[in-house]
Amino acid sequence: MNQIEKLPDPKTTPLAQFDLSDPRLYEQDAWRPYFARLREEDPVHYQSESPFGPFWSVTRFEDIMAVESNIEVFSSEPTIVIGNLPEDLPVEMFIAMDPPRHDIQRRAVQPVVAPQNLAQMESLIRSRVIEILDSLPVGETFNWVDRVSINLTTQMLATLFGFPFEERHKLTYWSDLAAGSPEMAGGTVDEEEQMTGMMECLEVFTRIWHERKGQEGGFDLISLLQRDPNTADLVERPMEYLGNLMLLIVGGNDTTRNSASGGVLALNQNPAEYDKLRANHGLIPGMVSEIIRWQTPLMHMRRTATRDVEFQGKQIHKGDKVVLWYVSGNRDERSIDKADEFIIDRANPRHHSSFGFGIHRCMGNRLAEMQLRILWEEIMQRFSFVELVGEPERVKSNFVRGYSALPVRLHAL
Ligand code: HEM
Repeated sequence: MNQIEKLPDPKTTPLAQFDLSDPRLYEQDAWRPYFARLREEDPVHYQSESPFGPFWSVTRFEDIMAVESNIEVFSSEPTIVIGNLPEDLPVEMFIAMDPPRHDIQRRAVQPVVAPQNLAQMESLIRSRVIEILDSLPVGETFNWVDRVSINLTTQMLATLFGFPFEERHKLTYWSDLAAGSPEMAGGTVDEEEQMTGMMECLEVFTRIWHERKGQEGGFDLISLLQRDPNTADLVERPMEYLGNLMLLIVGGNDTTRNSASGGVLALNQNPAEYDKLRANHGLIPGMVSEIIRWQTPLMHMRRTATRDVEFQGKQIHKGDKVVLWYVSGNRDERSIDKADEFIIDRANPRHHSSFGFGIHRCMGNRLAEMQLRILWEEIMQRFSFVELVGEPERVKSNFVRGYSALPVRLHAL
């Protein structure tokens, strides 16, 4: 068990001394009062020093939307996290591109999550969920993160990429490496290991690209990229190929994984909501959105100002980093009623900031919702209670809000 390091008092510490990039705020789940104070006292806040350099923090829901809508002034290039890209691994991905390149590349892979493709995937996802849930031990303590959340999302990723199923654990490994670097997000991944892992990922996917070339009709991501004239030669631009692979691997992995864990935690902390769910399984679709809001699996995206601009009375300069804190937007009472509470039958549950807004709004949002809906539908067919029997362990990052362990015990129906 890590020793808990003491954080500054959120009530009495001067705002100028807040460090919102400190991953311990999230590892210790201590972030709420810091953001509550900022939303109230200084919603567009400048932090002059941090391990990642100075940056602005945008903490209110409406302001986050406004920044995301103004793509000319607030660019997604060169990257969308607080930190900088590793210099020796200058990957490029469309989440960190502006139009027109962004639009071209997004369009190439978008069909994988088109409604028709999703409908075709539904029965496959369901059969995999069933297999995972039926293999779980009832009445024994185990780690939900490993046995369910990671297992489920890894299988899904392998399906999306048409990746060899028996080697699918590699996808999870690469995803953890990509999202956990200290310089990007305050994580703990060793840089050399990251570099070796990323190169292995590129090598494996380059081999898959060449093996798949010429095969017709595939609806996996690699086949889609090969078929689109704009990305048909992506393999010849290795840093762009690798970047977009990482985007899709991380995008579809950590996020859904941590929602699958977060839902269990939220229901355990809110037993009255769990009772509502037991009484009415029809609440599942709305509950899934509420879980995604409550969890906020990606806590921020960053933009970079392309010119001097005044925003909410603050003078933002060209080149400044502007961090959009979704985790705070989702707790903003100005935009979301009882924002701190977990309520599975909210009137407008998709009104949240977890998927972002505008041209970069999460491409996989319907897929993620579908996976989580199926997961809960099948859980409720089998278990009366997924009981949390110990403290959750949280990931150390200022980007991914997630769990490394969630000890649970299942009760059969
Ligand atoms: C609960 C699950 C998920 C959450 C919370 C989430 C969150 C996000 C967020 C916050 C963004 C950036 C939005 C912005 O800048 O405005 C994003 C973008 C993206 N997500 Fe997701 N995501 C999830 C699941 C997925 C899945 C399953 C996929 C797989 C297909 C995926 C693929 C992407 C891609 C490709 C982008 C880049 C879109 C662009 O730049 O145009 N996401 N996601």
